[in-house]
Amino acid sequence: MALRNTSFLQACRGERPAHTPIWVMRQAGRYLPEYREVRARVTFEELCRSPELCAEVTRQPIDRFGLDAAILFSDILVVFDAIGVPVRFNPAPVVAEPIRTRTAVEALPWGRAADHLDYVYQAVRACKAALADRVPLIGFCGAPMTTASYLIEGGGSREFEHTKTIAFREPALFAAMLERITTLLIEYLGGQVAAGVDALQIFESWGAAFAPDDYRVHVLPHLRRLVSAVKAYGVPVIVFLRGNASLLRQAAELDADVLGIDWSIELDRAIDVVGRDRIVQGNLDPMALFATPEVISAKARAIVEAGRLARGHIFNLGHGISRHTDPGMVAHLVEAVHSA
Ligand code: CP3
Repeated sequence: MALRNTSFLQACRGERPAHTPIWVMRQAGRYLPEYREVRARVTFEELCRSPELCAEVTRQPIDRFGLDAAILFSDILVVFDAIGVPVRFNPAPVVAEPIRTRTAVEALPWGRAADHLDYVYQAVRACKAALADRVPLIGFCGAPMTTASYLIEGGGSREFEHTKTIAFREPALFAAMLERITTLLIEYLGGQVAAGVDALQIFESWGAAFAPDDYRVHVLPHLRRLVSAVKAYGVPVIVFLRGNASLLRQAAELDADVLGIDWSIELDRAIDVVGRDRIVQGNLDPMALFATPEVISAKARAIVEAGRLARGHIFNLGHGISRHTDPGMVAHLVEAVHSA
């Protein structure tokens, strides 16, 4: 059946839909009481492994708000299941045995690893059924370096000490790790597309861990390979490269259909750097949702206005929504963007 709301996919193709489409990074999550109700019954790991519950929480923000796209409920770190590396969420992710040596990398079962993520592909099918063609479904993964950093650091990090030590002192090992992860991610996104996702987003949440010149040398080639390979699947590819203020030129070198812009830069200035022929997504500061409705409306209008400078614009936050956000303010934002 044909999708009823095509505004997001139109914008991804550079067409101008009747209104600016909007979805919100982390739109399914702890700020919604109905999500917390599901989470009271199961752990986050159990939730990610249950296709039925994934479909239920993916649908929650779609049922509540007039959003123009859904995003698969999962996590960028479930790919570690594919290579037999356990990760726990408390809620911050912890990898008890980090991978930092060539021996450790080579001991992992990389062959046909993406086959072990069948529960995610089943979740995609369950989400598609639950959405019943109301809005498109976005699949996703972490970018090679962001994903690798959790494997190497053993969790989140402020300074990325181990990741950068390997990149600087053992560049061949770093490249080998990112190459293997990239191959896994290419297969994983292929599985998501085969299961039915309508678009893909790649999250480079920790791009700014590297100085721009080091990013270009050690990280960008792998991200570029991932983007080029998954573009062949035929669905729009969005890259959210957080750290835009310093890495926007690097982002512009990617062949992605849509470039995600974080909230650290004015959208019009970002468009000038990446080029007015590009399609952009973003970029309201998630904490702006703590402002008054009037201030939210004014900020939304300014971003929609700036977005008109680009070939296409999808409204989003400039990073994930805070768990303390009032859902009523999200409803207000969606209204404000659609009527701007
Ligand atoms: O609604 C959606 O956007 C889809 C679901 C989604 C989650 N994580 C659910 C989640 C998506 C797209 C992600 C991506 C993700 N996960 C990223 C990239 C985006 C970004 O925020 O930069 C990263 C870096 C992760 C890793 C991760 N997972 C962290 C750092 C955490 C804990 C942080 C926190 O918010 O407390 C998680 C856990 C996680 N992933 C939660 C959710 C809803 C909270 C878990 C819970 O319910 O207890």
